[in-house]
Amino acid sequence: MTAVTFAGARVVDPASHRDDVVNVTVDDGIVTDVGADVIGRRIDAGGLVLAPGFVDLHVHLREPGREDAETVASGTAAAAVGGFTAVCPMANTDPVADHAGVVEQVLRLARDAAHCDVFPVGAVTRGLAGDELAEMGAMAALGVRCFSDDGMPVRSPQVMRRALEYARTWDAIICNHAEESALTGGAQMNEGQLSTLLGLAGWPREAEEVMVARDLVLAGGLGARLHVPHVSTAGAVDLIRVAKARAVRVTAEAAPHHFTLTEERATTYDPVYKVNPPLRGKEDVEAVRNGLADGTIDAIATDHAPHPPEQKEQEWMHAPPGMLGLETSLAVTLTELVEGGVLTLSQAIAALSTNPARSRDITGHGGPIQPGAPANLVLFDPAQRWTVDARGLQSRSRNTPYTGMTLQGKVVHTLLRGRFTCRDGALA
Ligand code: DOR
Repeated sequence: MTAVTFAGARVVDPASHRDDVVNVTVDDGIVTDVGADVIGRRIDAGGLVLAPGFVDLHVHLREPGREDAETVASGTAAAAVGGFTAVCPMANTDPVADHAGVVEQVLRLARDAAHCDVFPVGAVTRGLAGDELAEMGAMAALGVRCFSDDGMPVRSPQVMRRALEYARTWDAIICNHAEESALTGGAQMNEGQLSTLLGLAGWPREAEEVMVARDLVLAGGLGARLHVPHVSTAGAVDLIRVAKARAVRVTAEAAPHHFTLTEERATTYDPVYKVNPPLRGKEDVEAVRNGLADGTIDAIATDHAPHPPEQKEQEWMHAPPGMLGLETSLAVTLTELVEGGVLTLSQAIAALSTNPARSRDITGHGGPIQPGAPANLVLFDPAQRWTVDARGLQSRSRNTPYTGMTLQGKVVHTLLRGRFTCRDGALA
């Protein structure tokens, strides 16, 4: 490989507290120089932001089993175009990633596709059934650092406690889908006046909050690591804030749709807005934003959940929950949070990259951008405005709630160990 120098970019690297205009040279897969020099072939990056590649703690790549919705190759292609250099696919595939075989398969498919690094999440319980622990040890031996039955809660406090205790053996993390399902039978949207008006069964905020509270108590008691996925209510943000102040080993993520969209979208009855946990009220959106701003919520994670049109475009009641996220996450974050004055650009990049990498012990991603580090980088234009068109996405599915919206901020290049995975805004 010959050296290239990205010249004139604003380098925002939270891991080294850097935010200045400087030249970055990449050679043979690593960053070799950060400074005034132009050492390699010059690539003009004036007006662009150069940051550590993004890390998504929560995606659904659907392979094995639902290749009509997404594959490891198509999902990681969407990730590359979205500026990601690492993603963590959830275990709710078919078969479930509850043993080493599926984890190995996903790792192999990701290596073959080579669009971004993949760190599979293993299931907590066999078949996501909530009864017996999955083969956590065999998966941990393959490098799995996080276990989750995402989509399904670990209902039994005893199973959850055992899982936390077992995961602690490797200092691994349990991420529990925070939904007390005794309170959400048949739920279709956030519970409130609007759900009554629309005649759709409600998913009360308390269902999330009692589960988060239980898990914080269990993790705190054991000194085990807990990650709270897709935080959607003001009460859950408060619980996590208090737990962090008490030194519980907890990290949390929020999805772009939960800091952008509200339950009002359900008035369209368009199932593209159906998601689990559901879109909430204005106060919840505000609380999630505040949680990101004060560090209670560590990471922005997309919960990229592809569903094919013939499933998603049904009556609301019958459509599966979930939204695409990988190709719009940066733009939604910049438009809503940075332009909206909620986060500084550096905080936004920390939430998209540095914090998620650290929270999952992923090294080589999330910065620091310094000589010797792997060149896992993103360059984006923070000012470019573009209109989301589902037909232009890399994902196999089309269920983005942002279709037709004009957003600000577009990925120009993504580099994985110095190799372009996205070049000039297109898959490389
Ligand atoms: O909306 C969702 N879709 N929430 C989940 O927890 C699971 C996901 C899926 O797998 O489609």
